[in-house]
Amino acid sequence: MQGIFITLEGIDGSGKDTQAKMLAKYLEKKGYSVLITREPGGTSVGEKIREILLNPEIEKVDSRAEVLLFAASRAQIVSNVIKPALKEGKIVISNRYVDSSYTYQGMAREMGLDWVIEVNEWATRELLPDITFFLDIPEEVGLERVDRSRNIRDKIEKNGEIFQRKVREGYYKLAKMFPERYRIIDSKRKELLIHKDIRKEVDKFIKKNSKFSLKKKN
Ligand code: TYD
Repeated sequence: MQGIFITLEGIDGSGKDTQAKMLAKYLEKKGYSVLITREPGGTSVGEKIREILLNPEIEKVDSRAEVLLFAASRAQIVSNVIKPALKEGKIVISNRYVDSSYTYQGMAREMGLDWVIEVNEWATRELLPDITFFLDIPEEVGLERVDRSRNIRDKIEKNGEIFQRKVREGYYKLAKMFPERYRIIDSKRKELLIHKDIRKEVDKFIKKNSKFSLKKKN
């Protein structure tokens, strides 16, 4: 069996969480076996790393340490959760994956894209998504949504609007670098319209790719 690996990407506040849940529900209704994961986190080791990376009460993380910690959390979830699920024929939907490191650390933090790609290829044993949805919204809308939904910004969100703009520009570059797996989705619109675009793409992908043999729910 071989499952499908779908990732959702976008700046903070772009609505990935909601869309991951809506897509999972849709695919489950169609009878597929679906798993949602998030990054950083998704394993007990990963959740501890998440705390270090995002909790503003913990000391500032050095930029190189940041790259490695995101990659460490990813290595753990790939080997313990994502790869086994794909082997079982599940559809895995991940809220963020390597592209977040490529743009947040590689581009916005200017740590060097080539090097960040190399570290992540090593950490994931070169597992790449089959489809990546880039939920695109303007940075001021994203941060406004973050502020409305929570009391405090996490360590990354505290970098502010200019940083988020760089992250967004980074995603555009990545969409050009990886056109075969990238789909850009205008995410200023209503949730349901966004969801319909996403599910149309996923349906098309499943129809076109007979190499995947997906597990059906019992
Ligand atoms: P989270 O609260 O999960 O944000 P979101 O709901 O937008 O996914 O926090 C994850 C934060 O970590 C987010 O600001 C993006 C950042 N991040 C990186 O900088 N690099 C990475 O590799 C990943 C996975 C996340």
